[in-house]
Order: sequence, then structure tokens, then C-alpha cells
Amino acid sequence: MNIEQIRKDFPVLHQEVNGKPLVYFDNAASTQKPKVVIDRVADYYSNEHSNIHRGVHSLSAAATEEYELARKTVQSHLNASYDHEIIFTKGTTDGINLVANGFSRDFLTAGDEVIVSELEHHSNIVPWQMACEQSGAILKVIPITNSGEWEMETFHSLLSDRTKLVAVNHISNALGTINPVQEVIAAAHSKGIPVLLDGAQAVPHMAVDVQRLDCEFYAFSGHKLFGPTGIGVLYGKEEWLNKLRPYQGGGDMIKSVSFEKTTYNELPFKFEAGTPNIAGVLGLKSAIDYANQIGFDAIADYEQELLEYGTEKLSQIEGLTIYGTSKHKASVISFLLNGIHPYDTGTILDKLGIAVRTGHHCTEPIMTKFGIPGTVRASFAFYNTKEEIDALYEGLLRVKKMFN
Ligand code: ALA
Repeated sequence: MNIEQIRKDFPVLHQEVNGKPLVYFDNAASTQKPKVVIDRVADYYSNEHSNIHRGVHSLSAAATEEYELARKTVQSHLNASYDHEIIFTKGTTDGINLVANGFSRDFLTAGDEVIVSELEHHSNIVPWQMACEQSGAILKVIPITNSGEWEMETFHSLLSDRTKLVAVNHISNALGTINPVQEVIAAAHSKGIPVLLDGAQAVPHMAVDVQRLDCEFYAFSGHKLFGPTGIGVLYGKEEWLNKLRPYQGGGDMIKSVSFEKTTYNELPFKFEAGTPNIAGVLGLKSAIDYANQIGFDAIADYEQELLEYGTEKLSQIEGLTIYGTSKHKASVISFLLNGIHPYDTGTILDKLGIAVRTGHHCTEPIMTKFGIPGTVRASFAFYNTKEEIDALYEGLLRVKKMFN
């Protein structure tokens, strides 16, 4: 990979923040956009904008074609069996809420159980709590070890006749753990239980094959995959998407409407009520094409190199503790400097032009488990460099000096 060349594709990286060259290490929160994505969105609004699935006029037909072409790109990227298994959503949260809403209405009753893990983002906890509240179902939680891995024995013992769904993340946003989802899916399927994967943190780092995974649902966000904000994808197996009732009512999701009876549209339109984020969908297609040109094998290898280098470098700092030390990790390093609040560390790093995320990362249960208020999180993308990690290392030494 030619990182220098790749960095030229990302306009935002070439700026100073507080008089220092920007070091962007907040990629788990949102990744930056290559120029092809920015141009695609601008081009659409400049030359191609029209509503889709509605007009007989040429602009509308062309926009519809581009939108549906993007669906095929996502289908092929995820290796889904059909393009109608790809639902465009606002993001991961929206996709999970869609499934949770459908489950609470038709597939959960009092005493049923839904399994999540202690490693989940709030967006894969709260929708299920709401679903349980409505249906009387019970939430079961896979605990994590001190290294930030699921306790698999406990997971297996949680599976029962009452379990109606397992909803877990593929990669942890807060700790970077790459989870043994294949084992979870196989165990759940052996009891006929469907599985939803929150793939928000996985899709930027690896090629995901939903047929190989064999999960029933897979949700992710475009903005973490170098695409626009406000667009996401829910993959669902045809059989399950057909079983779920629509999440929202409105335009595009109907076949016919009368006051006596409305009939719903077929997949995927049944779940895409209202004018969708057309520009977001086209931008997401460009982002996927762009990342695939670099290649996810190359991306994964290079990011592992950054992770190893960063882990080794940061471990040299006395009093620095890394949270999340599992064997299989994505390029995320969550840490604390002894006695220094994460916000203080983050604020000083920002003065040095280094952008990291601080706080609980929408994973309060993990922070509770470790008895900490939050962490400082540096998360790397393929456009980051070892020199930037050196800058972080130097920055952290400065933080230490100021506080000690
Ligand atoms: N879920 C995003 C993060 O981990 C926002 O930062």
C-alpha cells in the first residue's frame, strides 16, 4: 500500500489543528472521506438529483438506476444472496431498531429471552431492552473476561429453548476485540436461534461475507466505511425480512393504500419508507468501490501492523494501562494514564493536533466492569502512519509531565 498516495485522496487530513498537523485517530467514531466520495455526492446534487422510484422522467429514472446499482454493489460486497436482502437505513442503530421492533411485535412474548453481551454498544443493548419492555421478554448478557473477550462457556449455558435471538457485535468499538461470531452463530443455529450481528466496527477493517457467516441479520453504518453520514445497511436473510412487519409506514413501502386495507410492498421497499438518503447511498457505493480498490486484505494487514506498533510503543509508557488485550483485535487501542482523567488527556492531545475519543464510547457496561470512568481511545485506519503513532507517544509523555 502506498500510504502517501492514499493520504492524498483524503482532503481533511491535510490541515493543522491548533497549529499542528492533524493526527486523526478517531476512526472508530467515524472515518474520513476520500475525494471520490465527496465528489460523488456533490455530482449527484449538481447534475443528477431527482426523487427515485416515482417519476417517469429521465432524471428520476437515472437516479433510480444509480440507487439500485448501489444496492447491488452492497450485495456483492457482503456476498448476500439477493439484492433485496439489502435494506438501506440511517445507520447501524436504525437497522438494529428495525429488527428489534419487528421482534417485539411478533417474535417475543413474556418469558422469552434475547442474548446480548457485556461488550455491546448501547445501540445493541437499548433497542433490545425496549423490545423486552414491550413484550415481557428477558435480556441475558454474555459476560466478558478481563482481556475483553466473551466468556464462551457462559454463552453456551445461556442458550435455551427460551432464547429467541442472539444480538452481538462482530468487533467491539470500545476495546477492539474481534469476537468469535462464527462459534456463536453455529451454537445458536444448532438450537434454531437466529443471530443479528452489529457490524459497525467490522466493515471498515475486513471483508464481510454474510453467507459464510450465515447470520440472519447484519447491520452497519456508511460513515464508518469512508462513506457519508446518515446512511447504513441492514442485511437480512430473505426468509426473515419477509417474516418481519414493516418498521415505518409511508411512501415507497406500500403496494396499495385504502382506508379499509393497505398492502405492503415487497422487499426491500417494504422497509424503506419515505424518500431515502439517495446521495448517501451513492456516496456509500463510491466508498465501497474505493476501499475495494485498495483491497481489504491489504487494509487488514497494514492496520494490524499499526496496531502492533502502537501497542508496543504505548506499552513503553509507565503508568499506561491498555483495556482490551484479546488475541484477536482490530486497530483500536483503549487506554488510561494512571490517575489522569481521560478528558484531560484528550484535551491536551487535541492541543497537539491529535484527535482521539475519550469517555465511555457508548459502552457504559464495559466501563462499569473495569471500574473506570472511560478511556482514551486511539483507533487507526489505513491512512494512518507509524509517524502519527510516534506523535501520539510524544503527546502522552507531555500529558504525563504536565500532570506529574
Ligand atoms: N460508536 C461510535 C464510537 O465508538 C460513535 O465512537
